[in-house]
Amino acid sequence: MNKITVVGAGNVGATCANVIAHKDLAKELVLVDVKEGLAEGKALDIWQTSSIHNFNTRVIGSTNNYLKTKGSGIIVITSGIPRKPGMSRDDLIKTNATIVKEVTEKAIKYSPDAIIIVVSNPLDVMTYAAFLAANKNPHKVFGMAGILDTGRYKAFIADALEVSPNDIHAMLMGGHGDTMVPLPRYTSVSGIPVTELLNHDEIEKIVDRTRKGGGELVNLMGTSAWYAPGAAVGQMVEAIVDDQNRIFPVCAYLNGEYGLKKIYLGVPVKLGRNGVEEVIEISLNEEERKLLTTSAESVKKVMKVLDDLKLFD
Ligand code: LAC
Repeated sequence: MNKITVVGAGNVGATCANVIAHKDLAKELVLVDVKEGLAEGKALDIWQTSSIHNFNTRVIGSTNNYLKTKGSGIIVITSGIPRKPGMSRDDLIKTNATIVKEVTEKAIKYSPDAIIIVVSNPLDVMTYAAFLAANKNPHKVFGMAGILDTGRYKAFIADALEVSPNDIHAMLMGGHGDTMVPLPRYTSVSGIPVTELLNHDEIEKIVDRTRKGGGELVNLMGTSAWYAPGAAVGQMVEAIVDDQNRIFPVCAYLNGEYGLKKIYLGVPVKLGRNGVEEVIEISLNEEERKLLTTSAESVKKVMKVLDDLKLFD
């Protein structure tokens, strides 16, 4: 790919840029931030690792000059304030919705065909905000959360079973918040259902810790995570650039799938060159469906807060 842009040079944005550069997926990677010199500095720092890590992607920084992002094939939006202890992702909505709208409009002006990956919180609703601001095919606007959340889930299962995380396959649905829906029925260890290896209580404990996984890190560090979010974005960008058609949980636009409409929510998708190539509908039992509905309702409540801000009228 010719160019990839990452907006926001904070911990998450800079880590995304670093991971993407290491994968050598683009000729140029542009890191943008509003803070004078920050993006230039981090970009230069990353670029100076190129001969050590053996990559060619030219990493450049820009203080709010979107002309430099012109012609990007992918735009990753990480802008916004992160959580502090005691805050939920939803507490960030007003500040971050305004930022996400502005950033999306500026970026899309110079790269109208770009695929947009949103990382800002509250994730599901910020993805919806970017979709409204970009005014383009929803298959090209989606959010990163599911790979991060399953990454946490798999790490906890690997610990519990003392096995390699590489052998664990899992699916998870719903919003990126405490109502997310990890799916033990769709979790296996080298093909062995996890339900055969861990008992109900052990699984429930892991599911609960996964749901609160972001908060656990906020409490430890006083701000939200960046290594796993950055790695998850890198995997999505790779799937798109290399047209891999990988199946990932992604925050995608639903238009009737799972009985839900006009909402962005975590679901299994096929991710390839065109972005979300397909939303995959898996069968859910009554309990899983109920949990998904509860999660969708909680995302809809935050969407209502966005609507009431009247940013898109
Ligand atoms: C987390 C933030 C990035 O889950 O939402 O760590």
